[in-house]
Amino acid sequence: MEQARLIWAAGLGLAYAGVCVAAWRQWRRSRQAATVAAPLLVAYAGQSGQAEAVAQQTVATLQAAGVQVQCLSLAQLDITALQQASRLLLVASTAGEGEPPDMARRFAANLAQPAALAGLQYAVLALGDRRYAQFCAFGRALDSWLADSGAQPLYPRIDVDALDEAALAAWQHQLAELAGLQDTALAAQPLLPVPGPFGQWQLVERHCLNEGSCGAATYHLALRPADGGALPSWQSGDLVEVQVPAEPGRPREYSIASIPADGSLQLLVRVRVGEQGQVGLASQHLTQTLALGELLSVRIRPHRRFRLADNATRPLILIGNGTGLAGLRSHLRARQQLAAAQPGWLLFGERQSTHDFYYRHELQALQQQGVLQHMDTAFSRDQPQRRYVQHVLAEQAERLQQWVADGAAIYVCGSLAGMASGVDTVLRQVLGDAVLDELAAEGRYCRDVY
Ligand SMILES: Cc1cc2nc3c(=O)[nH]c(=O)nc-3n(C[C@H](O)[C@H](O)[C@H](O)COP(=O)(O)OP(=O)(O)OC[C@H]3O[C@@H](n4cnc5c(N)ncnc54)[C@H](O)[C@@H]3O)c2cc1C
Ligand SMILES: Cc1cc2nc3c(=O)[nH]c(=O)nc-3n(C[C@H](O)[C@H](O)[C@H](O)COP(=O)(O)O)c2cc1C
Repeated sequence: MEQARLIWAAGLGLAYAGVCVAAWRQWRRSRQAATVAAPLLVAYAGQSGQAEAVAQQTVATLQAAGVQVQCLSLAQLDITALQQASRLLLVASTAGEGEPPDMARRFAANLAQPAALAGLQYAVLALGDRRYAQFCAFGRALDSWLADSGAQPLYPRIDVDALDEAALAAWQHQLAELAGLQDTALAAQPLLPVPGPFGQWQLVERHCLNEGSCGAATYHLALRPADGGALPSWQSGDLVEVQVPAEPGRPREYSIASIPADGSLQLLVRVRVGEQGQVGLASQHLTQTLALGELLSVRIRPHRRFRLADNATRPLILIGNGTGLAGLRSHLRARQQLAAAQPGWLLFGERQSTHDFYYRHELQALQQQGVLQHMDTAFSRDQPQRRYVQHVLAEQAERLQQWVADGAAIYVCGSLAGMASGVDTVLRQVLGDAVLDELAAEGRYCRDVY
């Protein structure tokens, strides 16, 4: 009897050790950067999918010409992997205020000092927008670092302003040369997937969510396809592009606040009021000019890095302010559909609880249903000293550490200035730079900030 128990215990011990070794191996694999298998490497770093799309099209073009290529994100690369490549084509956008995209933050730590990359030839395509003070800052920083590291430029860096076609065509010209192709053979292949057409949607519902607020008016809008047909599919975290009749060339982006199961495409839109009191074109059109029943040109844009994807089975920490609640609400509604979802924790900030607690009853119901295990709010003007969502997060440092240790993913949606940067600082203080950069590289720190 005693012997049987010993054998059983030994077996259990071995099985446990086996599980631990397997888990450790998997962890090590996930931490190891990819090995570079092809001499020509296409690498990318982006926030909302454009750099990735250009990189994929770059790969497709080269492969069609018979060139052997490998495509990796900067989250998957380290210096050893770069040293294995002989040619590197790098597509990198700039995020925040001249910052690297989240996925590339871990890699960006390498830029502090030159590496030994004398055997590497490279070209950089930097995506950016001249309306930002630090135009193409991350692409430029990568370019200088590669040069300082002894790598040889194949071509001068190309800076792309708002996906300017001429600049993208110059990149295509370089690809043609690299692949030994005639330019004309490439002209037929656009570098960015041609986006679907704008569809006509009807405004079926609109109400103000913050009557009496000291801040700008914020509205809940619901849209349905104008032809009365079925809703197209999208996932929580996705965006829409809305055409403004007065400025058709510059669509504005909005985070979708609902999921298709809700029966309509819902938005949370705040009236933009400029420094001189001028009202923003798109936000005015959506919240005031457009009448109920009228039509709007809308296109859904997948936001792959802000979807739930592999995080669907993880606990979620959702942090946002103002209209940032839109992107978080769509995730909560997706969670509500699941029978046994992992816990959720919402941290939401606005000005005054009496006027600006958007969707208060809905959020409280989610708490009662257990979709939200915790809900923390920061209403900055409810007390004499300003209190923001990042202050609440700092007070909850222990819970934050515990949730991250339990595998939680962090989603941040809303203002870049103030909120997202303040939250990022607290996350770095509590979790440490290395952990946060690792979470971003793994897709467990996702941001939709503007
Ligand atoms: C990823 C993302 C998600 C967003 N989600 C929301 C949301 O859920 N709710 C919300 O209220 N706002 C959201 N915004 C902000 C929104 O896109 C508009 O910028 C805002 O409504 C002000 O636009 P406006 O036309 O009213 O202001 P305006 O003052 O008329 O526009 C500001 C100026 O910037 C230019 N401009 C503004 N936005 C864009 C753009 N997107 N693309 C190109 N040019 C532009 C205009 O041409 C103008 O020069 C989001 C922005 C981004 C980038
Ligand atoms: C919130 C936000 C911040 C941005 N910051 C900068 C910036 O500081 N400098 C710049 O040149 N472009 C900036 N851009 C523009 C992007 O780099 C550009 O739109 C790029 O095409 C996005 O590519 P992606 O989808 O790969 O992220 C910013 C865009 C957004 C939405």
